[in-house]
Amino acid sequence: MTEQMRETVDIIGRDDINDLEAILSVVNTDVDEERHTVHSVYDTIFTWDYEKGQRPKLEKLYEKAKKSQWNGQTDLPWETEVDQEALVVANAVANGGFGEGLDVSGTSMALWGDKEWIDFGVQSQNWTLSQFMHGEQGALVCTAKIVESVPWIDAKYYAATQVMDEARHVEVFAKYLDDKLSGHYPINAHLRLLLDDIIADQRWDMTYLGMQIMVEGLALAAFGFMHQMTTEPLLKQLLRYVMSDEARHVAFGVLSLQEYYEQLSAAEIRERQEFAFEAAVRMRDRFLQQEVWERMGVNPKEIVPLLMQIPDRQVFQSLLFSKIVPNCKKLGLLDAADGWLRVKFTELGVIGFEDWADTGEEYDSLQSTPGAGAVA
Ligand SMILES: [Fe+2]
Ligand SMILES: [Fe+2]
Repeated sequence: MTEQMRETVDIIGRDDINDLEAILSVVNTDVDEERHTVHSVYDTIFTWDYEKGQRPKLEKLYEKAKKSQWNGQTDLPWETEVDQEALVVANAVANGGFGEGLDVSGTSMALWGDKEWIDFGVQSQNWTLSQFMHGEQGALVCTAKIVESVPWIDAKYYAATQVMDEARHVEVFAKYLDDKLSGHYPINAHLRLLLDDIIADQRWDMTYLGMQIMVEGLALAAFGFMHQMTTEPLLKQLLRYVMSDEARHVAFGVLSLQEYYEQLSAAEIRERQEFAFEAAVRMRDRFLQQEVWERMGVNPKEIVPLLMQIPDRQVFQSLLFSKIVPNCKKLGLLDAADGWLRVKFTELGVIGFEDWADTGEEYDSLQSTPGAGAVA
């Protein structure tokens, strides 16, 4: 260990990962901005070695991606009527009523009737889909950067197909929000901090680690969860299409980094571990959906501690890491540098997923089943 190793406070801006006061103080101060600029200096790499298939697994992914393109405008049943309020009510009924498991007595929410709970459900969905959309734009931008900065031709080819995939994902989430839901939310501040850090880093592998492993690993789990829960047929279909692409994207990250990390020094690996930890914390923090509470006139500081105590919520929150942890393990990031990341993931309560299927394995098994992983 050298003395440049950073402490938790240097990595995430606070000592205690569960310091709610500090988490909630990170807010988006310019909610009306129309664009956001991140300065980034990095090397754009040309390769003169055009021999295709030097990395056979990447080549296979590329061939697969070319055949799995779909059209967000014409392949989804956009004519489906969506009654957002009715869905919120049906969802509450299926789950034991509004605010099931949450004891709001003594808070401002104790006075909420059905109207407020329905409005909350609607806002919560608007918020969730908006963050998915912003995350997809992050993926679009990051993957375009990978096309430029990765040195291998097979990776440039594959990444180019992912750029198209991500454009389509942004397009379909934006269209769903505009046509079927009732309002956009600006990007959550924790998510923006993370996207800024990923895009500003000059090292090409950090773009992969932040985006393909961490953000997309979490997205794959979150989309899967929503796909399972929703009864709305258009959204279900949309998520299934997006997920079939995302599984490939995460596999691209695992396959590319595995080779590269084998040649890094312990100090370099430690920097990757710190980055993975930062990303994990930022993504966990964004799920508190503080902007929704504010819009509902509830002080997040009052309600978030109660939310954290709901057992189902803890399970859901940790399940979001069910792809990330095995993938980090596969990359050798858990146990390198004295197991630093293992300790951090243990503090976050997600280490239990380490032996779940990693996306490399999972993707291989998907490919051996005819038709799976592709859009039917
Ligand atoms: Fe995507
Ligand atoms: Fe993706």
